[in-house]
Amino acid sequence: MKQLTVSIPATEPSGYPIFIANGLLEQIGSDLEQRCPGRKKFIVTDTHLVRAGHLTALTAGRDVSTFIIDPPGEPSKHIGTVVRIVEAMENAFLGRDTVIVALGGGTVGDIAGFAAAIFKRGVKVVQIPTTTVAQADSAVGGKTGVDSSVSKNAFGAFWQPEAVYIDPSTLNTLDDLQYRSGLVESIKHGLILDGGYFEFLERNMESILSRDTRVLETIAFENCRIKASVVQEDPTEKNKRRILNYGHTIGHAVESASQYKLLHGQAVAVGIVAAGLIEQALGLSDAARHKRIVAILEKLGMPLSISSEYSIDQLAAILKRDKKAVGQWPKFVLLEEIGKALCRNGQWAHDVSQTIVEQTLERLYG
Ligand code: GLY
Repeated sequence: MKQLTVSIPATEPSGYPIFIANGLLEQIGSDLEQRCPGRKKFIVTDTHLVRAGHLTALTAGRDVSTFIIDPPGEPSKHIGTVVRIVEAMENAFLGRDTVIVALGGGTVGDIAGFAAAIFKRGVKVVQIPTTTVAQADSAVGGKTGVDSSVSKNAFGAFWQPEAVYIDPSTLNTLDDLQYRSGLVESIKHGLILDGGYFEFLERNMESILSRDTRVLETIAFENCRIKASVVQEDPTEKNKRRILNYGHTIGHAVESASQYKLLHGQAVAVGIVAAGLIEQALGLSDAARHKRIVAILEKLGMPLSISSEYSIDQLAAILKRDKKAVGQWPKFVLLEEIGKALCRNGQWAHDVSQTIVEQTLERLYG
């Protein structure tokens, strides 16, 4: 047997800026011209953003090729939409020097980011998140992808953006439930890494719910700071990045069992309550801590229990198919205290027996 080795030079460390300001949307076009001079831009957005006037604010009269996802949201998050985007880009004679500009919520960012990762083996993408969930979480960190008919994000890639632009005033056009449920990711950030930030959210919930733009700028900054600190340490989720999935394991099962009638943040709220009960069962938490976490989720109007429409067996079956399951049972991110995810033996996700999880689910039926 003959053998040789192909040596690939290690890629240089890279990074990207995150800009946060109210009213930023109208300045992004000229900033992009300076940041990516001479490159063609291709906007991916959806019908909500068009109706809200955000596409017009972004383009400010410039003629930019645009793909509008319709219907917006999860029903379009499949490979067919990506194929249509790629073909639209080919029909517009775009090449590898294109920058895809993703304007929208988590679904737009995921689809556009994935299209950028695969178009002609990869082009640059800029993320402009316009929902609470996307501004807090999905626009930063480079997770992109679309669902298959079997599971979420079955097609996916890590594809870090060139820049992220956050204009908190775009949240003004978001409907109330979407707005509130996206804030669950902010609460998650406080819980896993920053007790001071969790307290800030507790103290300022009224202003946050009334969409006070100054507070929104602060929370956008804090969310990005916390998320960036994790992504920098573990960009491809080998270990520590898993803490960003706090509350998401049971949350995803509940979301999937509801057939996506529950919004992501609503399902994650149930997952956070479940994680808190597991922590109590394992002696890691007490009733007072749990009460504090439940109280802030309650203020957001999030569900705290599981609907009787789906059974424990159904949820357990979904958990067994979790994409991070090992030996057909997932590991769980847990808290040591508010502001500190539990790390044991260098690991950030932990074994919890099926019995404890099922007993916890039992306690969660309303
Ligand atoms: N949304 C979790 C992560 O980006 O890792």
